[in-house]
Amino acid sequence: MSDSRKTMLLTGASRGIGHATVRRFNREGWRVITCSRFPFPEECPWGGGQENHVEIDLSDPAAAINGVGIIQEKLEGRLDALVNNAGISPKGPGGERLSTLTTDLVDWGKVFHVNFFSSVVLARGLREELAAAKGSVVNVTSIAGSRVHPFAGAAYATSKAALAALTREMAHDFGPLGVRVNAIAPGEVETAILSPGTEKIVEDLPMRRLGQPEEVAAAIYFLCSDESSYISGAEIEVNGAQHV
Ligand SMILES: NC(=O)c1ccc[n+]([C@@H]2O[C@H](COP(=O)([O-])OP(=O)(O)OC[C@H]3O[C@@H](n4cnc5c(N)ncnc54)[C@H](OP(=O)(O)O)[C@@H]3O)[C@@H](O)[C@H]2O)c1
Repeated sequence: MSDSRKTMLLTGASRGIGHATVRRFNREGWRVITCSRFPFPEECPWGGGQENHVEIDLSDPAAAINGVGIIQEKLEGRLDALVNNAGISPKGPGGERLSTLTTDLVDWGKVFHVNFFSSVVLARGLREELAAAKGSVVNVTSIAGSRVHPFAGAAYATSKAALAALTREMAHDFGPLGVRVNAIAPGEVETAILSPGTEKIVEDLPMRRLGQPEEVAAAIYFLCSDESSYISGAEIEVNGAQHV
């Protein structure tokens, strides 16, 4: 039976910002197809989640490319939103920041596959489905993409800067297909990705608090809704004025 609901594909749905985004879109009546490394998370179930979950390790380029076909089988020829949210931010053995001097090249490449290349692979692979729905792509970048961050490493920061540039390039290339492409750049949001010591950063933030995953999900939802129908190629800061 065909499903008349709008459909979103979300990477990195199992925790944090991705999990809050699933819940938001689900509440708004969307069908959500999720993608992460592990089976459907028992601890955060939602209606229809199990059959709409795809296990892909996005650090493996072949798995990401093959994953496109698996995802297409779950779509009915159209995709209203693709949210590239999966991200990793590796640290050194003692939890220390990895710099341009200390990041192993293999690890750097892995970060780029998850944080950057997977977005190109999925968007290009699903361009016909996105075009059919006049859909929207949202790339989750970071404040670390535009300045040195005390905890986020060099590989992470450069991957997010590249993802911001990719957003611009894709907005140019996908625009004629009727597909909008934007980014959101979170600051310090209360998820497992945060490092010990973040509370010191928060003391100096203009809003003096962490962001909540639901606040990021709301910005993603806006960019996938008709309320943002003429916004493309933008990167929206969601950081309580951390960037000012
Ligand atoms: N929290 C913040 O303060 C903050 C700030 C700026 C930007 N961001 C960005 O926001 C996004 C979400 O971050 P978060 O804080 O919610 O992080 P998180 O809690 O660590 O969640 C990361 C998600 O990415 C998935 N993932 C990791 N490696 C993967 C792989 N190889 N293949 C497929 N999926 C993979 C994880 O799923 P599995 O482990 O199940 O595979 C998980 O669902 C990331 O892109 C992050 O860089 C976060």
